[in-house]
Formats: sequence, C-alpha cells, structure tokens
Amino acid sequence: MRLFVGLTLPDDIRASLAGVCAGLDGARWVKPENLHMTLRFIGEVGGAEAGDIDAALGTINAPAFQLQCQGLGHFGKAAKVRALWAGLTPSDALSHLQEKIESAVARAGYGAEGRKFKPHITLVRIRGRPPKNLGDYMAAHGAFTTAPFSINAFTLFESHMGHGGSHYVPISEYPLFDDVLTED
Ligand code: 2AM
Repeated sequence: MRLFVGLTLPDDIRASLAGVCAGLDGARWVKPENLHMTLRFIGEVGGAEAGDIDAALGTINAPAFQLQCQGLGHFGKAAKVRALWAGLTPSDALSHLQEKIESAVARAGYGAEGRKFKPHITLVRIRGRPPKNLGDYMAAHGAFTTAPFSINAFTLFESHMGHGGSHYVPISEYPLFDDVLTED
C-alpha cells in the first residue's frame, strides 16, 4: 500500500480550485475529486505496518481549525516548473497538527521526511517542457483565494497509481476536537 496522511477539502473549495484548473497549455490537471493537501507522505508499506501507522495516528489529540487558500505558486523555476499549487494562509494549528502527525508516524517506525513541510494543494504536475503560457496564467490567477473553511479531521489515504494519473482513497479518518472557547 502506498500511504500518505492529508486533508480532504470541502466540495465548494474543490469546486473553487477546479475553476483555476484550466488555461495552461498541455496541462493534465489533478481531477477535482483528487484535490487534497498532504501532511506527511509515507510511501509503500505492508498491511501490518499500515495497522501500526493507523494506531499511532489514532492517538493524536488536536483541535479543529480554519484554513484558507491564498495565492498560486510553483515548485521549480518557471523554466523548469515541476508543479503548480494553491498556497494556504499561515496557520499555527496546521503546523502543530503536522508536527503531531510527524511524531506519530516516526513512533510507528517511519523516520522524519527530508523535505521541509510546505503546505500546498497541487493543481497540476508538469513533466518535460514548461507550458508556454505559464507567465500569462500566473498573471491571471496568481492572486487566487478561497473563503476560509473548517478542518475537522485528517485522513490516511491510499494512493493508487494508474494511467490516467493517481487517485486517492481515504482509508481512515481521525476527528479533531471542537475548540470551543467559552466566555464568562
Ligand atoms: P505533491 O502534491 O506535492 O505531489 C500523494 O502522492 C501525495 O503525497 C501528493 O500530494 C504528493 O505531494 C505527496 N508526496 C510527498 N512526497 C512524495 C513522494 N516522495 N512521492 C510521491 N508523492 C509524494
């Protein structure tokens, strides 16, 4: 099983993101149903290991929070762009959740991932030549934002790779607690 931990996105946010998944020459966009945010990529594991990871993730206690998409960006310079993504407004709650997931996954036997966590929602992965109209596309859509949305759970996904691109199946969901502030 090829596993990763991430966030599913509300339907209206995926619809909003899908609205900018157009207009880039030759791009094979992530399908709206596959748009997600990765918190920790794990990779290939066996069934027993998947059970250990699930159990470790199940011990995480963290509050629900709000996120908001803000701005588009890309990995790799324009001439060697590898992926185009939607960014997210900085969130301490998201960073803390990611750290908790990182240590839970480490406890299950999967050491820290080398690359620094950069919250993003991949819209398209680009192999080979960069699209000719990337500059125009970024000028038109670079300031993309969504409304804020609630994150009430995180998810263990299985990634299935196929000819038409990967698709992601949620295999376990872990609720976050309601962070209700009461005033006297
Ligand atoms: P990406 O969106 O930046 O490509 C499933 O493959 C998810 O895990 C993707 O969202 C992908 O991030 C992420 N991921 C992180 N590291 C990965 C790796 N080494 N190989 C494949 N996917 C990885």
